[in-house]
Amino acid sequence: MPLDRRLELSPEEMRALGHRVVDLVVEHFSTLAEQPVAASASRAQMEARLREPPPDAPRGWEATVDRVAREVFAPMSHPAHPRFFAYVPGPGNFVGAMADALAAAFNPFAGAWMVAPGPAQVELVTVDWLRALCGLPEAAGGAFVSGGSMANLTALAVARHRRLGEDFGRAVIYCSDQTHSSVERGARVLGFRADQLRKLPVDGGYRLRMDALQGGVAEDAARGLVPFCVVANAGTTNTGAVDPMPAIAGLCRAHGMWMHVDGAYGAAAALTEAGRRALRGMEEADSISIDAHKWLFQPFECGCVLVRDGGALKDTFRLVPEYLRDSDRATEEVNFRDWGVQLTRGFRALKLWMTVQVFGMDALRDAVAWGVRLAEAAEQELRASQAWEVVTPAQLGIVTFRHRRPGLDDAGMDDLQRRMTAALAEDGFALLSTTVLDGRTVLRLCTINPRTTEDDVRETLRRLERFGRELA
Ligand SMILES: Cc1ncc(COP(=O)(O)O)c(C=O)c1O
Repeated sequence: MPLDRRLELSPEEMRALGHRVVDLVVEHFSTLAEQPVAASASRAQMEARLREPPPDAPRGWEATVDRVAREVFAPMSHPAHPRFFAYVPGPGNFVGAMADALAAAFNPFAGAWMVAPGPAQVELVTVDWLRALCGLPEAAGGAFVSGGSMANLTALAVARHRRLGEDFGRAVIYCSDQTHSSVERGARVLGFRADQLRKLPVDGGYRLRMDALQGGVAEDAARGLVPFCVVANAGTTNTGAVDPMPAIAGLCRAHGMWMHVDGAYGAAAALTEAGRRALRGMEEADSISIDAHKWLFQPFECGCVLVRDGGALKDTFRLVPEYLRDSDRATEEVNFRDWGVQLTRGFRALKLWMTVQVFGMDALRDAVAWGVRLAEAAEQELRASQAWEVVTPAQLGIVTFRHRRPGLDDAGMDDLQRRMTAALAEDGFALLSTTVLDGRTVLRLCTINPRTTEDDVRETLRRLERFGRELA
């Protein structure tokens, strides 16, 4: 019997489905500011709505798309919402979303030049833009990965391969106690023991203390251990702090250590003059993580790992089994499968490439500068009111602060900040997250979305203050 259901729609149906999807997306982007920033649901509610065996009979695309809109995408927070200030927002843009749709539809195999030279060249070019942005030399190379976590893991794998080879039991990695947890997870995945990662103290600005780093390296070397890698932050997740990269680079050079810069969040600030000043020393790194799905306005997943010695990625990851020999051809052909962990990989570069083509780098530069300015405006607003204590000043689009409430003890104050955040989320107007600095719970605004207005920030702080008053 011939197969009569080939998982295909007619051209007319494809168009109709495509138009419906695009209408939904356009509606989403053009009404974001009027929508609640978050809608939550319990596990029980979601089970009731979505738990089912897979249907054997077709339900058709109309009903399915409607259901996605109603039951899948309604109960969620919107990371691209102008008042999503929590964690690191995901201020994706429409062009990037359409690029993802194109990449999914054409589905190039972005692991081998032979089968997708166009996508491979776009990836080479786009990586090179990020390489230049971060100040690495032309000989540097890189690849798109899922995000900052994978970029950090990949960089650590390259560092280990280059500096240690197979024998890494005595090696030590250094970073500040403000470093993103993905560094620790990456080290763990790579087989480093917990005692091989030194989380060092920070100064009053939450930057890695050089005396602690120098002391740690000297002490470990004296004990016969192998100081091997320093992970420097180019914008911590908590406060946007930048570690003293020129000094770290000097120390790494002096001791033959690898310098990795986690710029997953902050490296994009190098688009602006002020950002370049703040990130001085990043260009001396051996490797850098930068996430285009954060401050370069792409849909998730769009991270990038850059390595000063471009050949190091291939040296670390390349394996050519017999079934891939056909595509292992001329040396100028780049097979990105050799430059990281993934063999089959999607075409992540397209979204950033298309965004830059459509809007131009000046627009991205202005958008990054706007995010920096908004956090500064928030800081000014906070300083103008007795209700607030600024805990860390605006740095790379992040400001942290705390509601003042005389008479409450430390635990009560911590609890109040968390309850204010929950009340704001419940209200639906804006979303913030808390973090902990020096044992104290603080509120944190991350303002990297170019859709956000100064009024959005002002009104968010006004509501927060009201919740603080009411809850105390
Ligand atoms: C500084 C930093 N590094 C790494 C990561 C991890 O990135 P991802 O969530 O893309 O894996 C983050 C995420 O917020 C981050 O802020």
